[in-house]
Amino acid sequence: MDFRQQTVVLLKPDTVKRGLVGEIISRFEKVGLKIIAMKMVWISPDLAKKHYPISREDWIESIGKRALETYKEYGRDPGEDLDSLDPKEIGKKMASWLVDFLTEGPLVAMLLEGGNAINTVRKMTGHTFGDRALPGTIRGDFSDERGYVGFVEKRSARNLVHASGNVEEAEFEKKLWFKENEIHQYKRVEDSL
Ligand code: TYD
Repeated sequence: MDFRQQTVVLLKPDTVKRGLVGEIISRFEKVGLKIIAMKMVWISPDLAKKHYPISREDWIESIGKRALETYKEYGRDPGEDLDSLDPKEIGKKMASWLVDFLTEGPLVAMLLEGGNAINTVRKMTGHTFGDRALPGTIRGDFSDERGYVGFVEKRSARNLVHASGNVEEAEFEKKLWFKENEIHQYKRVEDSL
């Protein structure tokens, strides 16, 4: 089904520092997604903590579980890098690393609109880890970071982009990141055809 959606994209601080902002925005523009809001911001830990639902224990536990899955995928022993094998403990550390990462420099926040925008942007973004992301995706083309390297270096995976995962997340993130007067409705050339 093709229906119009809005989705939030963050070009994380690693994208800005590597000078990839234009390159990545250009991909979204060329595919026909309409930029309806965009700004560069250096956010506070408070906003980063709202962006990721880190006060939800089930979310903390689920990313901790994903980390253990990551270790399985790579056939690496998590005991080498992680102090605890408890998903909740791992998740808590990951949450604080995510906040550090999102606040380490300015990022670019965008609201994109288009047919099936949420899914399109997720597909264009690719797998969480650069070395697992397919060529042609943003993460696959601009990163080859292995999934466990962040844990070795006690930091979040540097994966360039955040993209809303579903309609509920997109709605929540739109309200969190943008005021009504920062969102612009206009016609792209193809809208007038
Ligand atoms: P998640 O929402 O699962 O990934 P995605 O960004 O692909 O939707 O996880 C949120 C962020 O947490 C992810 O972008 C990077 C970080 N993370 C790690 O650093 N290591 C991990 O093993 C996982 C699962 C996530």
